[in-house]
Order: sequence, then C-alpha cells, then structure tokens
Amino acid sequence: KPELSRSPPGDFMRPAVRTRGKSSSKTNGVGVQVEDTRICVVMVGLPARGKSLIAQKVVRYLGWLSISAKCFNVGSYRRTNTPQPNASFFDTSNKEGERLRRAAAEAAVTDMVKWFKSPGNLIAILDATNSTKDRRRWIKDRCDSEGIETLFVESKCDEEDLIMSNIIEVKTTSPDYSGQDPEAAAKDFRERIRMYERVYETLDEDEADLTYCKIINVGEQVIINRIQDYLQSRVVYYLMNLHIKPRSIWISRHGESMFNVTGQIGGDANLSPRGQRYAEELPRLVRNSAGDTPLTVWTSTLKRTAQTAHHLPYEKLSWKALDELDSGVCDGLTYAEIEQRYPSDFAARDADKYNYRYLGGESYRDVVIRLEPIIMELERSENILIVTHQAVLRCIYAYFMGSSQEQSPWMEVPLHTLIRLTPRAYKTEEERMYADVPAVSTWRGKGSKAAHADTPESSRRGSPAMLGQVKEGL
Ligand code: ATP
Ligand code: F6P
Repeated sequence: KPELSRSPPGDFMRPAVRTRGKSSSKTNGVGVQVEDTRICVVMVGLPARGKSLIAQKVVRYLGWLSISAKCFNVGSYRRTNTPQPNASFFDTSNKEGERLRRAAAEAAVTDMVKWFKSPGNLIAILDATNSTKDRRRWIKDRCDSEGIETLFVESKCDEEDLIMSNIIEVKTTSPDYSGQDPEAAAKDFRERIRMYERVYETLDEDEADLTYCKIINVGEQVIINRIQDYLQSRVVYYLMNLHIKPRSIWISRHGESMFNVTGQIGGDANLSPRGQRYAEELPRLVRNSAGDTPLTVWTSTLKRTAQTAHHLPYEKLSWKALDELDSGVCDGLTYAEIEQRYPSDFAARDADKYNYRYLGGESYRDVVIRLEPIIMELERSENILIVTHQAVLRCIYAYFMGSSQEQSPWMEVPLHTLIRLTPRAYKTEEERMYADVPAVSTWRGKGSKAAHADTPESSRRGSPAMLGQVKEGL
C-alpha cells in the first residue's frame, strides 16, 4: 500500500474568521468552532414577509454543512391552543388572545433552551413576528441568561404586490385556514397584518446593542449591526445571497464515459459513443424543459463534462469545485479491484460512505465543503444547468432536497438523465427527464462489487424521453 497519511475528516479546513476574544479547540465538519457558540436566530417582521421561508432555508443549509440547527415556529405552538383564529385574536387589546400568544412564545423558547442543552446543537431559529422591542428584549434577556447568543434577522418589505402574492401563495393554504374559502382567508390575513402593523416596531438605533441583520425588500438593502463571530457572519452572508425570483436549476451527469463502460472510477476519460449521442441529444432535452429561458451552463474541469456540454447553445463556465470526488489511490480502479487490493477500505466505505475518505483522496463530506461556494453562487444566480459527476450531483441534490447524509451517497442518479429542480416557497420540486440513449449503470449497492452493466430499460423509468416525473423535497 502506498504510504499516504489520512487526516481526520473535517480537519483540513480552518475557519477564515475566528471567534473574537474567545478560545476554543473543537471544530466540526466545516472547521467551525463549536465549543462555545450557540446562537438563537430571532426572526422579526410582519406576517407574510418570508420569515418562515428564510428560517427553513437556513436550517437546511446548516444541516447540509453538518451544523446542527432547528427551527422553533411559534405559530405551530399557538395552533395547539388556537388552531384557527380570526384576525381579532391578534388584536393587542384582546386580553385572552395576548395571553395565549405569550404562552405559545414561552413554550417555544422553553423548548429551544432545552434543545440547546444537548451537545452539538448549535443554531436555533425562533420563527415568529417578534415585532415589538419589548418582545425582542425579553428574548435577548432569556438567551443571555442561558449563555446563548442572539442574532435578530428582520425581513422588512413594503412591496404591496409581493405581499399579496405571498398571501395567496402560502397563507390561504396554511392550516390556520384549512377548509375555508381562499378569498375570505386572504381578507382575514390582510386584517391580521393590520393588527400587527399597529404595534410593529422595526429594529432601529434604540436597539444598537443587538446583533442584527435587517433585510429590506428581499435584499435590495441589507443593514448589519454588531455581527460578532464566524457562525453569525456565515449565516448573514448566506441570507444576503438569497433571492426569490422564479427559476430552476437543471443538473445532469456527463454522458457515458469510456471509464463508465469499463467500470473504472475517477480518471479523465473521453465520452463513449453512447455518451456522445447523449451530448447531441442534451440540447433538445434541455430545450423541451426550459424553452427559451436564458441559461448558463456550469461544468467541471474534466473532459467528459465539457464534451457533454459541447453542443449546448449557452454561455459556459467551468469550475474545479465541480470535479468528481477524488478517489485517491483508487483512481482508475474498478470496484472489484478496490475490494481485492484494499478490502478493509472497501468495507469501511460501505459502513460509512459519507465520511469515508479515500487514501489520498476525498470523502463525500469533503466534497460538500468544497461545494459550498457553488451553493452560494447558485443561490445568487437564476437559471443554471450543471453538468457534473455522480458524487458531486448527489451532494448538490442533497442541498436542495434536504436528503440525509446516510441516504445521499447511495442515491441513484442514472446517466443520460436530466433533473430539473425548482425552488418553491417551502420545498423544492423535482422533475426527471430521460434521454432515449442507453447507458451503463454506475450505481453500486452496499456490499456489491459487480461490474457496471447496461441499465435495464425497466429501471430507466420514463423512457421514452421526456416523461417528466414530479417529486418534492424539503
Ligand atoms: P408569518 O408571520 O405569517 O408566519 P412569514 O413572514 O413567515 O409569515 P412566509 O410564510 O415565510 O412568511 O412567506 C413565504 C412567502 O414569502 C413566499 O411566497 C416567499 O416567496 C416570500 N418571501 C421570501 N422571502 C421574502 C422576503 N425577504 N420578503 C418578502 N417576501 C419574501
Ligand atoms: O463511476 C462513476 C463515478 O463518477 C466515479 O468516477 C466516482 O468515483 C463514483 O462515480 C462516485 O460514486 P460512488 O461514491 O457511489 O462510488
């Protein structure tokens, strides 16, 4: 065996910014200092300003980076005592309403504090309007007394049309109005907003001691105050990159390569003749799904992705970060050869595929970390088509669909398949389109060392081409 050292997973990337004035020794998978940083992200803003959407995205993003995060939605706590309130419940002169709303907020904060007692739990999002200075001070004092940092995130928006479309998109279908007429629900919700407007206080100079990020009109302007440490700045940077313009992200693996045909992993092989056919077919597949939408194509720096994108009539950009998982000393071997030469490694990979790092190469966890700038750029961008590799595609897919670390490295992504991901309010919609060009299957089940063989027609669901299947993720 070659003498290659294996550094522990997660130890290769150090934080760019260290916690000011604090010293700690532990880092997690992304090199974040975890020992003494627990943050409560407190959402602030009137109803229908995207607070829940932001909260859920932050939880998904942090989870993908192995940072344990959880959202505490006060609305769900309130629903246990008042499942279907009308607008008058939110009138601050309604004493019983005030009591019940306060009780819901207290229950959520109490559960959050309990959750923080478990080691490793780092970021909680308190998802509520938290629209008065008094309420925010109460949360800050409570968190201070537990040694939890607070980061207030306000979404302020006065674009009437956007608020109306938010109400129609997500509020009329909320459990608060289930079984009710959507028009009446929208009217009541607008009245609810008016109740909040009477008492709403935006974050201002009186609260200059708070750590906050104020997002105005979906990022048109962002004001940040007293951002103190690495995790806080990471969350704020992510928030600054979000937009809500309708768009899709298309992902495809490269066409079948000569290495795929021989069952070898890694390398920088050319496309096989069938892979070439897929490259020729891809513009039509994309056009049928995207129409005239302008797209930018991202590829890796490896030949097989550039060859696959060759006929696409769009602007192209190649990224080193999109290169396939580096299989180190196993590069160029078949799974059967790996099992024969490195049996314990072969078994170790099956036992924990996400964390297993090839000798001199990478793990899925490593790939996620190097993909973070890609995800950030994707969040900032509009319509993008990514032509990449099996492991990289699985990691990108896991970000959008919220797949677990146990599942994502085993996900089946057949060759010659185009996947369209469309972010919606609280979920991502998925559609798969299959080109009518056969290819080997490079998927390997746990314990198997079978050679790559042609994908049986039956498992190429959707053939012939263009039969989209819609599925949803988180
Ligand atoms: P509530 O206080 O009733 O829970 P909310 O502020 O949590 O409301 P969401 O339920 O998250 O609002 O609203 C989702 C809608 O907000 C989506 O339609 C989404 O497109 C839109 N949205 C997302 N981000 C923003 C933003 N920064 N400003 C305004 N609207 C946004
Ligand atoms: O076989 C194709 C391939 O892209 C290899 O180059 C890569 O090592 C492998 O897939 C990643 O898939 P898995 O993690 O399932 O081995």
